[in-house]
Amino acid sequence: MESFLINGGNPLAGAVRVSGAKNSALKLMAAALLTSDKTILQNVPMIKDVRTMANVLRELGVGVTVTPERVEIDPSGGLSDTAPYELVRKMRASIIVMGPLLARLGRARVAMPGGCNIGPRKIDFHLSGLEKLGARINVEHGFINVDTNGLTGDVISLDYPSVGATENIMMAAVTARGRTVIESAAREPEIIDLAKFLTSMGARISGAGSETVIIDGVDELNGATHTVVPDRIEAGTFMIAAAVTRGDLVIEDVNPLHLEIFISKLRSIGVEVQEFDHKIRCRGGEFNSTDIATLPHPGFPTDLQAPVLVLLSLARGHSIVTENVFENRFVFVDEMNRLGASIRTSGHHAVVHGQSRLEGAIVEAPDLRAGAALVLAGLAAAGTTEVRRIGHIDRGYENFEQKLQALGADIQRVEVSNRAPSAAPF
Ligand code: EPZ
Repeated sequence: MESFLINGGNPLAGAVRVSGAKNSALKLMAAALLTSDKTILQNVPMIKDVRTMANVLRELGVGVTVTPERVEIDPSGGLSDTAPYELVRKMRASIIVMGPLLARLGRARVAMPGGCNIGPRKIDFHLSGLEKLGARINVEHGFINVDTNGLTGDVISLDYPSVGATENIMMAAVTARGRTVIESAAREPEIIDLAKFLTSMGARISGAGSETVIIDGVDELNGATHTVVPDRIEAGTFMIAAAVTRGDLVIEDVNPLHLEIFISKLRSIGVEVQEFDHKIRCRGGEFNSTDIATLPHPGFPTDLQAPVLVLLSLARGHSIVTENVFENRFVFVDEMNRLGASIRTSGHHAVVHGQSRLEGAIVEAPDLRAGAALVLAGLAAAGTTEVRRIGHIDRGYENFEQKLQALGADIQRVEVSNRAPSAAPF
């Protein structure tokens, strides 16, 4: 089992280039199933989830070549229809192959995705949207079986702007007969990136990034080459790293327009943020409390809720953070309090008592973004912090410790035995 060992207190300084967005790359890889031509994706983050998605595609009979920041996908050798449990269990996002398989083969068998510890992660909006297009759905033996005699466009009004449901429906609709209108669609920048890729393959899509996406079906799609949009969540993570270490960072290859509300909230806390066309400069300062509510884009991103709790723990005064997107995304608060934070949760609300003096301890990463937040807390804490179960972090952050080391962080990746957490390491 691997851990990060962090000696806190070093102000981070210098420039860091963020990688391509995990939450776009995985969907672009699934979209490549929509054609039998070869597609090439560039600026792909070399992270565990990309390797898992590559294995899902290989299970489906697709040739996948992964080289640094580039993935070539060749579905010319025929396609099977089943995404197996052992891969879907590892990565819930595998469900995103359902729409493309349904469009390409007229059927798909995808293992029920596990929940994960930020909530049950239902897929009812995905399934009801695909049914509206003419899919028949039955769930048996832990598999979702969908099939159709042909998809026909329709108007689909989502109960909630689900990112995954919007993407699955978009991909099913690109070769459906006639027009599909998705109302209350998700507006994340990754949706726009997917629409750009599909359009370059020959799809006819308008309105991506707004609450109404229109897809006019075409006969077939062709191969294309596409560069993945920069990862706004990784960029926000490094911005908070600059703030909590009272450092001075330039985050490169990021579009500040993808982080408007996040930037405005950081400024209200007292972080100095300068925006340029494709980079952001971020400096620490004196922090004041503020209240934050996570919402679908363009609201405050739920994936930056855990990192911003670290920053608010250092601010003067009390802050209230409300998590409106997932049911159980405060699961890491107990770990934060082990580091000396003072956060109380009640349902969807967390009350942060600020001006905590964070002190190193052993903590465990419960999921990807909470794991990254615990690293940020370790960078700010006095003394040594060991963050365990960092496999979660490797799922979504490329070369995380190397990027931090290059900015002056004292962080090492170490092997640990299954030592009882109570054993004091220092
Ligand atoms: C995507 O998850 C991202 N994952 C998440 O990032 C991100 O937090 C989320 O969008 C919101 O921005 C990927 O893109 C791989 P949703 P997704 O469908 O598509 C409920 C990370 O750390 N819901 O918008 O699963 C659901 O339970 C991850 O990178 C239903 O009830 O998000 C949740 O409460 C974490 N029924 C809410 O909607 C459905 O059919 C948001 O889910 C679908 C969703």
